[in-house]
Amino acid sequence: MNNFSIQQLCHINKPVYIWGARALGCGVLRLVQRENLNIKGFIDSDKAFKDRKILGYHVYPPTHLKENFISEKPYVIIASSTSEYTISRLCEQMGMRKFSDFCTSSEICGVEYIIDIVGACNLACPSCPRGNYPDQPSKGIMSLKKYEKVIEKILEESPNVSMISLYNWGEPLLHPQLQDFITIQKNKKIFSSVSTNFNIKNNIKSLVSAKLDMLKVSVSGYFQKNYGVTHFKGDINLVKSNLYKLRYFMDKVNSEMEVEIIYHKYRNNTGNDLEKFRSLAQELGFSFAEIFAYYNPVEKVIDYLEGRGVDKDMQLIEELFISIDEAISNTEKTEKRLCPLKENQVVINWNGSVSLCCACYDPKKTIIADDFLDIPLNEILSLKHKNTLCKTCMDYGIDQYYFDTSQRTVEKNII
Ligand SMILES: C[S@@+](CC[C@H](N)C(=O)[O-])C[C@H]1O[C@@H](n2cnc3c(N)ncnc32)[C@H](O)[C@@H]1O
Ligand code: SF4
Ligand code: SF4
Repeated sequence: MNNFSIQQLCHINKPVYIWGARALGCGVLRLVQRENLNIKGFIDSDKAFKDRKILGYHVYPPTHLKENFISEKPYVIIASSTSEYTISRLCEQMGMRKFSDFCTSSEICGVEYIIDIVGACNLACPSCPRGNYPDQPSKGIMSLKKYEKVIEKILEESPNVSMISLYNWGEPLLHPQLQDFITIQKNKKIFSSVSTNFNIKNNIKSLVSAKLDMLKVSVSGYFQKNYGVTHFKGDINLVKSNLYKLRYFMDKVNSEMEVEIIYHKYRNNTGNDLEKFRSLAQELGFSFAEIFAYYNPVEKVIDYLEGRGVDKDMQLIEELFISIDEAISNTEKTEKRLCPLKENQVVINWNGSVSLCCACYDPKKTIIADDFLDIPLNEILSLKHKNTLCKTCMDYGIDQYYFDTSQRTVEKNII
């Protein structure tokens, strides 16, 4: 553990740039705002951010930093999980010193929290345990009262928390009080992000009026033929009409909400479907991120690797752009490295129970505590270390399968 903290930055008194304008960087922005630091903007070379503002701040290319280094003497916080090392080296090449001139988000933010406020979904995607898992956990939604207590405890135990995601294996837009959850988080200056399948008929206007920070819209095709297979039970025309409505509501109030369309790539949807969706995102002024779809959850990947009970999923497995075998063959198979989801993440389910990590699902194997409110953070982290699923997961390199597959395209342009 390092002894560096965000509070030390207050004494450094330099203009701050956040390198990385995606969710991680946005979380850092809210944390830095809570400390009243002088924020200059984001740095990111992804062309998707060219000439754009994110949450009211300019996104500059890395050359801006070089050009203004002498006159501004800035401080850089690196917010990129995959390019942390490379960007650190670039900062050093510019003459910056670790901690005095730059640091990384992981050194100042601490634990990442996920609160799955809705334990249910209206769709049944075959790559997701909501669609492929034989034993389903009990369904329900978190009460506002419970959520308020959870937030209180989080802030007490992790005052440097930068973001809380309000989803894991559920559809958060099904919650009738979603707006109130967002408002509470907004008032605490914690970055809030919601991911949705957008197959809903209400709640759109309320996301805008509650001033949600980031909305991710998950899709897997522009036309129903492909979309309806990988987003089983979904209707892509409803999604598209909701995207137009969202733009309309956002324009009416000059909303700064960051909207990112997350396009899941499979073998069958990377041609016309992908290009049409990219154009739609551009037309509506929303970010567009392509990710390679992967097979979920951890327990199912283990079943696949051990040749057990995945016959029903074989059609989906064969459609994956990067096959499980190929991805797994490139991972390091050892228990000896650190998995960030084990070290640094707390997942709280709708009923308050705590899961091992965001990538596992089976309540019989992966619930490590019945109620987040009854157990201190240090005990939660130590219980995670005692769970036996991690050993099998890491022995196969499955933790890296998720990390590498999901990050391969999202952050490729950050430097
Ligand atoms: C399980 S979903 C739950 C939230 C919401 N129902 C949705 O689908 O966006 C959580 C995140 O996982 C991502 N996701 C879902 N299926 C995926 C897959 N097969 N591969 C990669 N990411 C996936 C989604 O894009 C979303 O951001
Ligand atoms: S990925 Fe999202 S939309 Fe699809 S089944 Fe899972 S929770 Fe539902
Ligand atoms: S090792 Fe696997 S099961 Fe354990 S926390 Fe990491 S991803 Fe989850």
